Amino acid sequence: MEVIIQKDAEAAAKLAAALIERALRAKPSLVLGLATGATMAPIYAHLARLHREQNLDFSLCRTFNLDEYVGIPPDDPHSFRSFMDRHLFDLVNIDKRNTHIPDGMATDFREECLHYERLIEECGGIDLQLLGIGVDGHIGFNEPLSSLLSRTREKALTPATIAQNAKYFPSPAQVPRRGITMGVGTILESRECLLVATGIEKAEIVAKAVEGPITSMVTASALQLHPRCRVIVDEAAASRLQGIEYYRWIFENEPEWTEFR
Ligand code: PGA
Repeated sequence: MEVIIQKDAEAAAKLAAALIERALRAKPSLVLGLATGATMAPIYAHLARLHREQNLDFSLCRTFNLDEYVGIPPDDPHSFRSFMDRHLFDLVNIDKRNTHIPDGMATDFREECLHYERLIEECGGIDLQLLGIGVDGHIGFNEPLSSLLSRTREKALTPATIAQNAKYFPSPAQVPRRGITMGVGTILESRECLLVATGIEKAEIVAKAVEGPITSMVTASALQLHPRCRVIVDEAAASRLQGIEYYRWIFENEPEWTEFR
């Protein structure tokens, strides 16, 4: 893992967008794995601006989102599909037929999950997977105790996730209790992973995921097994990391980061 510390959430989002921009310009038909949540919104705002002002081209890009709520129709404003439309897809020149999100209204979830895995495979696998982290350590909806080899499937959400997402719903009772999510194993097959976490409320779980033991109790810790995983954090989310001085030194001294400093 490579940890990159930025001074605040805005700088973290800007750097994440710049890394996605670099990948997309290098490969216009990039297969991009996407995530939803408050951490992602400013990253997508930067990508939309790069499209508007610097012709960042999404016309050949294919996307796969990590997860979707069960029982929320795609056109419902609370669905992850609506989130993606609002924050990114409607703001760039992506062909919506190339944007994939699990169908939370599927009648046969087993078939839907197999279909999602097949689609990823048919596209040649995910080149770059963007990830957030839940306060319970989840990536996607891979809640604690998810198998670290798991594939796309339906999952019950934890009380911590339901509480974290309650702010988006009129009342906590309306937060869905289940989701469809790519598995940890599915995520680990991406060629590259980029996890972004900001804010003091993520500090403890980031330290566990990055520096703690690999455990299904913190599914993000499985990213330690990934050969190319970057973690972008702001100062607040980095504040419980033990190796903080070393991570700062890498960013300040490695030639790879010159253009981003
Ligand atoms: P957040 O969600 O960006 O809204 O904190 C992250 C996650 O739960 O994966």
